[in-house]
Amino acid sequence: MAMAIAAISVVWTARGGAMAMTTTPGSAPIIVQLPQPRLDSGTSVEKALHGRRSIRDYRDEPLTLAEIGQLLWAAQGVTAPGGFRTAPSAGALYPLELYLAAGNVRDLAPGIYRYRPHSHTLIQLLPGDRRGELCSAALHQEAIRKAPAALVFSAVFARTTGKYGKRGVRYVHMDHGHAAENVYLQAVSLHLGTVVIGAFNDAAIKRVMSMHLEEEPLSILPVGRLRGTASKD
Ligand SMILES: Cc1cc2nc3c(=O)[nH]c(=O)nc-3n(C[C@H](O)[C@H](O)[C@H](O)COP(=O)(O)O)c2cc1C
Repeated sequence: MAMAIAAISVVWTARGGAMAMTTTPGSAPIIVQLPQPRLDSGTSVEKALHGRRSIRDYRDEPLTLAEIGQLLWAAQGVTAPGGFRTAPSAGALYPLELYLAAGNVRDLAPGIYRYRPHSHTLIQLLPGDRRGELCSAALHQEAIRKAPAALVFSAVFARTTGKYGKRGVRYVHMDHGHAAENVYLQAVSLHLGTVVIGAFNDAAIKRVMSMHLEEEPLSILPVGRLRGTASKD
């Protein structure tokens, strides 16, 4: 299948400011359009809640771009014209940023990407498989190295504390909890496994994921195929 990667020759400006990218001066950033998310499945919310478990061991098989897109959408996808998302957010201020460390995803070059909810696209920040570095930055938790890909949440706390002051810190953590649970439930529905990882070295994660200075990393969710289930093709 052809690589679903398109280079777009427009100057891109992120809501959070300038973005660190490895593209050489003058070259266009790599933008990946994700497949449209499915709005239905054979898994009820009740079944997903009942089946949710933290899974740390995965089959050594690729994920598909559709699965990655579905997980990112579940976490932070835009679902209404006003920019409202799958997960609630205090004051609709959306302090969360969402990254992908891709190592073994069909039709997606290994690399570090940032999810852009409004266009349902990924922008590549760094090329290459960084799962080993991410694993080391997370106290060598092997689930990260074994998973074909990992979602990484960060937050720009100022987006929320600017309105709510100190209480905004609490709100950002609540926003993150809602979004991370969405990933868990979506993973169950896709017959995938994930675990929310909160133990890591903040500075090292920021470096590996190419995060902006004002962002703080919140969690890593490696995702992979469950052991003991049939391969999905
Ligand atoms: C805030 C938070 C941080 C966590 N950090 C880690 C972690 O660093 N590594 C890990 O393997 N699991 C981590 N977990 C997953 C918990 O260990 C797991 O949720 C718990 O054992 C209950 O199991 P269950 O999720 O299957 O119900 C974390 C969970 C939460 C909510």
